[in-house]
Amino acid sequence: MRLVFLGPPGAGKGTQAKSVAARYDVPHISTGDMLREALRNGTPLGLKAKEYMDGGLLVPDDVVVGIVKDKLESISDGFLLDGFPRTVAQAEALDAILAESGEKLDSVVYFDVDENTVVRRLSGRRTCRSCGANYHVEAMPPKTEGVCDKCGGDLYQRDDDKPEVVRERLAVYREETAPLIEYYQEQRLLDELEAGKSVDEVGKELIKRLSEVERSEG
Ligand code: AP5
Repeated sequence: MRLVFLGPPGAGKGTQAKSVAARYDVPHISTGDMLREALRNGTPLGLKAKEYMDGGLLVPDDVVVGIVKDKLESISDGFLLDGFPRTVAQAEALDAILAESGEKLDSVVYFDVDENTVVRRLSGRRTCRSCGANYHVEAMPPKTEGVCDKCGGDLYQRDDDKPEVVRERLAVYREETAPLIEYYQEQRLLDELEAGKSVDEVGKELIKRLSEVERSEG
């Protein structure tokens, strides 16, 4: 399967991507996670990305396209892209990368959720410093407050989940990323998912939709 998860910040893309990637045995490629890892490692890429991420702005297209291209060249047999593409220029670059190897996307799942829900989800998100697992203080709390269930690492609030940065990220989403809904509608790849429900309900509906994509490809 070659999948893209599209949607506003906090829509639940990363939460669902982890289980979907495991189910279909494809790599989960999150550009946000890759940039945060580069930052943790203090690489030039990470330091450059930080300037943009801290302000809720998009990292320049050429930088992000470069890291995704390198990653896609190192894998075969499908992928799940989470948070990429995020601009029409990135979507066109992805089409060109796939065309080079005679591949195409199977589906673009659009996580449709209202802005109030997004703000609630992001303000309650806690992330593990060690393994990157995500929690929510109300919807998906860890067993012990502040401690990751999976690895025992510390949980923290991402700098870009603070209210003023969330507002900027939403504005950037509306301006730069929302046009991709039409872009993929025109390619007849868009599958719209009501993502405002519980994690379980969204997950079940998602698996149903992806099973249909699988069946239609026979
Ligand atoms: P990135 O890390 O990709 O952030 P994002 O797209 O803004 O996505 P999020 O991780 O905030 O949200 P999500 O949809 O994955 O939600 P999650 O599942 O965690 O990007 C960060 C930055 O990196 C960008 O601002 C930009 O600077 C840069 N960047 C990354 N990619 C780029 C690109 N392609 N081009 C340029 N720059 C790029 O869920 C959120 C919370 O809600 C969690 O607490 C979760 O537990 C909870 N939750 C999830 N689902 C539910 C549910 N159904 N019910 C209740 N709670 C739920």
